[in-house]
Order: sequence, then structure tokens, then C-alpha cells
Amino acid sequence: MSFELAHMTAHLPHQRDFVKRTDNDRTVSKTPNKKHCFSSLSSFWFGLLIGGLTGGIILAVILTFYITSSYENASGTGAIGITTVNTAVSTSSTIISTTTTTPLPGSTVVNSMNYARAQHSAFVLTNGKVLVTAGRNSSSALSSSELYDPSTGIWTLTGNLDFARYKHTASILTNGKILTAGGYNGSVYTSKTELYDPSTGLWTITNVMNSIRYTHTACILANGNVLVSGGYNGGGTNLKSAEVYNSSSGVWAVTGDMLYIRRLHTLTLLSDGRVLTASGYNGSVALDTTELYDPSTGTWTLTGKMNYGRYYHTESILTNGKVLVIGGHNGTAPVDSVELYDPSVGTWTLTGKMNYARYCHTASVLSNGKILVIGGYNGTTALNTTELYDPATGVWTVTNSTNYARYCHTASMLSNGKILIAGGMGSSGYLNTAELYQP
Ligand SMILES: *[C@@H]1O[C@H](CO)[C@@H](O)[C@H](O)[C@H]1NC(C)=O
Ligand SMILES: *[C@@H]1O[C@H](CO)[C@@H](O)[C@H](O)[C@H]1NC(C)=O
Ligand SMILES: *[C@@H]1O[C@H](CO)[C@@H](O)[C@H](O)[C@H]1NC(C)=O
Ligand SMILES: *[C@@H]1O[C@H](CO)[C@@H](O)[C@H](O)[C@H]1NC(C)=O
Ligand SMILES: *[C@@H]1O[C@H](CO)[C@@H](O)[C@H](O)[C@H]1NC(C)=O
Ligand SMILES: *[C@@H]1O[C@H](CO)[C@@H](O)[C@H](O)[C@H]1NC(C)=O
Ligand SMILES: *[C@@H]1O[C@H](CO)[C@@H](O)[C@H](O)[C@H]1NC(C)=O
Ligand SMILES: *[C@@H]1O[C@H](CO)[C@@H](O)[C@H](O)[C@H]1NC(C)=O
Repeated sequence: MSFELAHMTAHLPHQRDFVKRTDNDRTVSKTPNKKHCFSSLSSFWFGLLIGGLTGGIILAVILTFYITSSYENASGTGAIGITTVNTAVSTSSTIISTTTTTPLPGSTVVNSMNYARAQHSAFVLTNGKVLVTAGRNSSSALSSSELYDPSTGIWTLTGNLDFARYKHTASILTNGKILTAGGYNGSVYTSKTELYDPSTGLWTITNVMNSIRYTHTACILANGNVLVSGGYNGGGTNLKSAEVYNSSSGVWAVTGDMLYIRRLHTLTLLSDGRVLTASGYNGSVALDTTELYDPSTGTWTLTGKMNYGRYYHTESILTNGKVLVIGGHNGTAPVDSVELYDPSVGTWTLTGKMNYARYCHTASVLSNGKILVIGGYNGTTALNTTELYDPATGVWTVTNSTNYARYCHTASMLSNGKILIAGGMGSSGYLNTAELYQP
């Protein structure tokens, strides 16, 4: 038994029951890296403008009242508190009144998925539905995919993948299709890739990658192509190689190697078009090195060292262009440390620690620029805690817990500002439960 297997099995007890495992079937799982390049920043409107005119009389009235109502709508949205601030501003002839509604924060259980799954992928499609695909349960890799419709709150099955897989990558292309690449089906590691077309609801097989990859990472480049790097090749070798999928020709082309072997790392597209890779695992240690990929030359160069090596972390791009790396596992223990990368100077600095150490969590960038971390595993337990990072202060604040503790789940930012939390592993195994989180 490899060091990694022996060591990491202790951290993810719910995976012990999975079928066949070789020394290279790494036991630690990773939610496929789908949120690092395109955090679904979505703005939503609270404002409602009401104009009022009281004939001939100039009135200045400021009314503030608070209404809290509770209701259950089709999408299972639970208790919603509506704060209404009515402000009337007088001019010589008109009174304009502005109403702001602020839903109260918290998580509401919604309909469950058809299948329990963890280490799956989830994307908000251009039609507003959420595609959840692949992953695994306690006995099997999954080929099933399902769609959540936020307007009805209903999950429906959609096309199956040809190759069941987990620890794959999935990326949403600029044409709205989803590309899934690589992964493991419980007995075979693969270089196979498939494309989902939301207009037909079908997956079609597309070109294979140049390498089999598992626990690799993907990122959409500024030109719409897909960069994948690192991972495990299924034959005893961890990879520093990288390749690019041309999203118009569908061809995979080898590009420059990373300087370091990495798996369970992250890739983030910077505002200048370069891609930052942070940390990861090289088969024996968590790496503190980070590199930048330049798509115009196809080469990687070293950039600042992190303060702490880690894998199973998340990486989010902030609205100010800096990159926030959160939590993860350092090879010995889950970590609470959080680091900021400044692309203008190429250095990493520590920022506020989380209240809870965690890995295999999710991080969502909210429309107000704050980062919401949900769930994860702390070395002994799946977590129901969530916390919010304020980039202005560098401080983390614990917010409403989720109804189910979970890790290796997905969190998808809907256009109404709520976050759909789906699946993952909990204290009693693989989850089909879903929740809508109002930040
Ligand atoms: C969120 O937490 C607040 C404060 O504890 C509580 O009043 C509110 O009901 C919670 N929201 C939900 C949806 O549970
Ligand atoms: C796991 O998934 C497989 C394939 O979809 C299915 O046949 C099996 O019933 C599932 N097992 C559990 C425990 O859900
Ligand atoms: C995994 O893939 C291999 C090769 O395609 C296939 O023979 C096997 O049945 C697959 N296993 C599962 C669980 O899908
Ligand atoms: C992608 O493929 C198209 C069609 O073959 C080609 O015209 C284009 O130059 C390629 N783009 C890149 C960035 O490689
Ligand atoms: C992993 O990194 C450590 C520390 O830099 C190094 O000693 C070791 O050789 C690396 N292993 C591989 C397989 O590159
Ligand atoms: C991992 O973090 C734990 C807790 O902070 C610390 O004790 C340990 O030394 C760290 N291990 C490594 C390899 O950095
Ligand atoms: C993990 O979280 C649980 C539940 O909050 C707590 O009881 C336990 O002490 C935590 N374990 C570690 C290692 O932090
Ligand atoms: C979160 O989990 C803790 C145990 O770790 C439990 O005491 C608490 O009630 C849970 N909170 C919710 C909202 O389920």
C-alpha cells in the first residue's frame, strides 16, 4: 500500500468501501476543478422603482418598514425575509420611492437528485438549468447526468455519458457545451473526452487526449480553448505534461510541460490571459511552488512560492484580480490557512484564516465580491459550516450552516444569487440531497 493510500484512507472513510483500488487509485477525492476559471459571478436586482406624485403638494416622506414573510415556492425556497426600505425623495413636482428587498440568509433543502453522487461536476447552463454529471457512489462510477430547473425545482435525467467517470474534469465552453475529460471508472483510467449539447441533451464522444489523466485540472483560456495539466496517467506516473483542446476543431494538442509534477492542483485564468497553477500533490508531498502559463508561448514559468503547500484546496479569482487560495490538505492535516496571490508582483501573502480547517469544500464568488465557503472535510467529520470572506477586511465570518454536512459536493451560483448545493459525502455516506443557499 502506498504512503498516500495508507495515509489518506484515514481521512476519507466513506471511500474505503469503493470497489477495486490499486496503489495508484488515490483515495483522496477531488471535486473536479470546474470553478476556478469561470466563477459564475451573477448580479441580481433587488431594486424596484416606484414613482409617486401627489398633486400640487410638495411632500417629503421617508418611510421605512420591515416585512418578514415566509412561504414555500415551486423551487422549494424556504423562509425568505424581505426587508423593504421605502424612500421617497421629493422634487418640486415628483416623489420617487425606492424599495429594496434583501432575502434573509440561510440554506433550504430542495428536491433531491435522482442519484446520490460525490466528486461529480455541476454547471449552470446558458438556459439557466444546472447540469450535474458523473461522479461516484459507494460502489460505482456514474455515467448519469441530471438537470435541475430553478424555475420548477425539479430534477430530470438527461443523457448518459458513454464512459462513467470521477476525478475527471468538466468545463463549460463558450458555445455553452460541456466538455468532460479523463477520469477513472473504477477499473480503467481514461483519456476519453465527451461533449454535452444542452440543445439535444446528449453526450457525444469527441477526440481523446494525448495522455490518460486522472486527478488533473482544466481551465478555459481567454480564447475559449481548454488547458488541462498534470494528473496521474494510470500507468504508475504522475504528470507534468499539459495539453490544449481547440474548441473549434475539437483537436487536443500537447503544449509545454509544467516545471513540476502536479495533481489535485488548481488552474486559474488571470485577467491578463495567463493561467496560474497553485500547489497540488506530486505523489509524496504537497507542493508550495506555483507557476504561470503563457498561452502565447505555450510555456510555464515559476512564480511566487506559497506559504503552505496544499491540495484539495480551492482557488477563486477576486473582483480586484487577486487570487484567493483557501484551505486544503497539507499531506498531514486539513488546513485553515488562506493565501492571496497578487499577479502584479507575483507573490503570495497570508490573509485571514478560516474558522474551520477543511478540504474538498467549495468556494463561490458572490456578486458583492465576497467568497462563500461551504462544507468540506476536517479530518474526522463532514462539515455543515459555511463561512464568508470579505476581501476588504481579510476576515472570515461564520454564516448559516447547511442542513446536510457534506464534502466533495458541488455549489453552483444561480442567476438569482442563490447557490445550488448538490450531493457529496456526508456522515452517512453518499448524498442525493440538494439545498439552495441564500448568501
Ligand atoms: C440563518 O441564521 C439566522 C440566525 O441564526 C436564523 O435566524 C435564520 O433562520 C437562519 N436561516 C435559515 C434559512 O435557517
Ligand atoms: C451506484 O451507482 C450504480 C450505477 O448507477 C447503481 O447501479 C447502484 O445502485 C448505485 N449504488 C447505490 C448504493 O446507490
Ligand atoms: C470501465 O471501462 C472499461 C473499458 O471501457 C469497461 O470494460 C468497464 O466495463 C468499465 N467499468 C465501469 C464500471 O463502467
Ligand atoms: C483551432 O482550430 C481552428 C480550425 O482548425 C484553427 O483555425 C485555429 O487556428 C485553431 N486555434 C488555435 C488557437 O489553435
Ligand atoms: C515531490 O516534491 C519533493 C519536495 O520538493 C521532492 O523531494 C520529490 O522528489 C518530489 N517527487 C516527485 C515525484 O517529483
Ligand atoms: C500540516 O498542518 C498541520 C496543522 O497545522 C501541521 O501540524 C503540520 O506540520 C503541517 N504539515 C506539513 C507537511 O506542512
Ligand atoms: C471536525 O468537526 C467536528 C464537528 O464540528 C468536530 O467535532 C471535530 O472536533 C472536528 N475535528 C477536527 C480535527 O477539527
Ligand atoms: C451542524 O453539525 C453540528 C455537528 O457537527 C450539529 O450540532 C448542528 O446541529 C448542525 N447544524 C445544522 C444546521 O444542522
